[in-house]
Amino acid sequence: MLVHVSLGQAQTALDSRDPQIEGLIERMTLEEKAGQLTVLADEIRLLNPNTNPDANRRRADELLKEVRAGRVGALFNGRGVEGARVAQRTASEESRMKIPLMFGGDVIHGYRTVFPIPLGEAASFEPVLAERTARVTAIEATAGGLHWNFAPMVDIARDQRWGRVAEGAGEDAYLGKLFAAARVRGYRGEHLANADSMLATPKHFAAYGAVAGGMEYNTVDISPQTLREVHLPPFKAAFDAGALSTMSSFNEINGVPATANYELLTKILRGEWGFKGFVVSDYTSDMELIAHGYAANEREAAKLAFLAGVDMSMQSGLYIEHLPDLVKSGEVPLAALDRSVRRVLRIKKALGLFDDPYRSLDPAREAADLKRPEHRALAREAARRSIVLLKNRQNVLPLARDTKIALIGPFAEDRLHLHGPWTLFANDQEAVTVADGIAAALEDPTLLQVVQGSSFETPLRGGIDAAVQAANEADVVLLAIGETHDMSGEAQSRTDIVVPAAQQMLAEALAATGKPIVVLLRNGRALALQGAVRDADAILVTWFLGSETGNAIADVLFGAANPSARLPVSFPIEPGQQPFYYNHKRTGRPFIKGEAREFKARYREVPNEALYPFGFGLSYSTFEYAPINLSGTTLPWDGKLTVSTRITNTSDRAGEEVAQPYIHDRVASLTRPVRELKGFRKVKLEPGESIEVSFAIRRADLEFVGRDLKWIAEPGVFDVWIAPSSVAGTAKTFRLLAEHDAAATSARTGAD
Ligand code: BGC
Repeated sequence: MLVHVSLGQAQTALDSRDPQIEGLIERMTLEEKAGQLTVLADEIRLLNPNTNPDANRRRADELLKEVRAGRVGALFNGRGVEGARVAQRTASEESRMKIPLMFGGDVIHGYRTVFPIPLGEAASFEPVLAERTARVTAIEATAGGLHWNFAPMVDIARDQRWGRVAEGAGEDAYLGKLFAAARVRGYRGEHLANADSMLATPKHFAAYGAVAGGMEYNTVDISPQTLREVHLPPFKAAFDAGALSTMSSFNEINGVPATANYELLTKILRGEWGFKGFVVSDYTSDMELIAHGYAANEREAAKLAFLAGVDMSMQSGLYIEHLPDLVKSGEVPLAALDRSVRRVLRIKKALGLFDDPYRSLDPAREAADLKRPEHRALAREAARRSIVLLKNRQNVLPLARDTKIALIGPFAEDRLHLHGPWTLFANDQEAVTVADGIAAALEDPTLLQVVQGSSFETPLRGGIDAAVQAANEADVVLLAIGETHDMSGEAQSRTDIVVPAAQQMLAEALAATGKPIVVLLRNGRALALQGAVRDADAILVTWFLGSETGNAIADVLFGAANPSARLPVSFPIEPGQQPFYYNHKRTGRPFIKGEAREFKARYREVPNEALYPFGFGLSYSTFEYAPINLSGTTLPWDGKLTVSTRITNTSDRAGEEVAQPYIHDRVASLTRPVRELKGFRKVKLEPGESIEVSFAIRRADLEFVGRDLKWIAEPGVFDVWIAPSSVAGTAKTFRLLAEHDAAATSARTGAD
């Protein structure tokens, strides 16, 4: 099932001129060309109206007229094959040029079968799992009539107030790169032309996750080094894996909106990286150049976006409105228009649409492929492998199947908040609730008592009393609390990233019963856990797990699955620590645990550390790391050093551990983070089993973006760890030797 496209292969495949496409371009009018560069919301098929703001909407019949006139080249977020066939017939049989439409959509973590939110899935530290869920997503989405996925979202998010943290792979660029590439491979499958393959769109290009204060759509003011080192690498990895479109982001970067950013969209993307696909704007982001104060009017906005490198305009209609005239007036060169049309048509061709406009519009496939049991099985597997165990005092978990349980909280029986943000094509009624999953796993379902206790954000009359009574009658309390699905996702930034007050009150009341409490946290971001939630006996981070939520949680609660996920984002102690990320700089006055606290880089109230750091997660097994070994103390410029350790499962339960190598560059011409993840390996160990885990370190692993914006490595001393989290372990040091260092030469010849 897993197919690996070699790096850059998909990009170079689009190099040569195609006679069919050149023939079309020769015959197309300016308006038809601008039409191919216009994507509009699909009003012909049922559209979820709550996805985007109301802008440039048309009735279905008006839209079909536009399609017939060749004034639109792609539609997005429509549902169902039947309507798509109508639109496609209009384009490919009734329009003058007969160019087929391309159907796009936001299929972020599943189409009909919903997988964990991407952040949750990143916690698995298994890119292969993401590749598999992306493959199934593409199978279902293409069965539903889509060709083009507005995913993966590969934005790095270092501030948990930002609502779109949920859609990405978290705070670390290395992890982000691997998940970005895996998802692209999964969407694409074996060959883009296959009926079940999708064009991937890594988004949002770029630095959208770096918005000031974590506030959605806000300004990004960022050093060019951080941009290149942290925010761009997942995009590059996605393109290397074969992604052939990308979406320009809403935000500005250092004063220039991304959607009009020539430096980003042309110099870096095409000049440095050789990207051969097309760039689509985000939803009306070209029009928003006016609100940014960067364009005076719509005509200018269209011109600035287009000339910067945005090939296709989403939803504003600015390109169809203004590009023909901009070309006539000479403000936009015809050759530039043709080039963008060529990019789009080539991809339509690569998708197989010229051979068969009805590819992926097969009612039989739609009926067969959306509800396959193997898709649900994968959803359950992905969900349980995404659950992070943060705490397990006195091994309260796993539970015996004859435990008397009080399942309490607004998420206990809820159905609306299982899927999480961006699940436009799924059906809430098909997901397994927490209560149903647990009841099915118990020997006797009457052992389970379910009490709501509180609403999501407001107390429930008599709720706490009923909850306390149920708790008193039970052996253990499972507390299903956290965030609703609309607290994360687009436009859902929060200032106070905590469990809502009404639910916190419920938790405090239940803690007073003295019963063991297991928190089942529902969350789209890292939260600052407080009071009785923080102090619970056990905490499971269950994100938004999708279709199989209840079954996956039950698998972990009763030990059918042993938790193996690790945090892809740091859980802070207090919300006010944001932005918080493990790979921060050291500062001139670093706070060091156990040393004097005054005049140090810290807040008054809390130390400068996470409650649960990036990379952290427990298992029902326990593991021990032996001190790490280095194959030498020096790394020759072109050489290799091996760092290794022995990990032992010291428990009587088989389990999986995620070994994480980190490095720290002690002195450099630009200051370096305290630690940086450089790899990871998930290993399965039987009870008592030991395994040797080793990683190769080469100069490339030590590179950073220097003053001249090139990746460089500098000779000097480095710390290295192999650890179970971003703050654990004991470092060893080695020295990277200079290129012509005598020791390097001797090491290369084996004389060292
Ligand atoms: C979002 C994109 C999405 C687009 C189309 C925008 O508001 O930022 O991520 O792909 O809408 O729905």
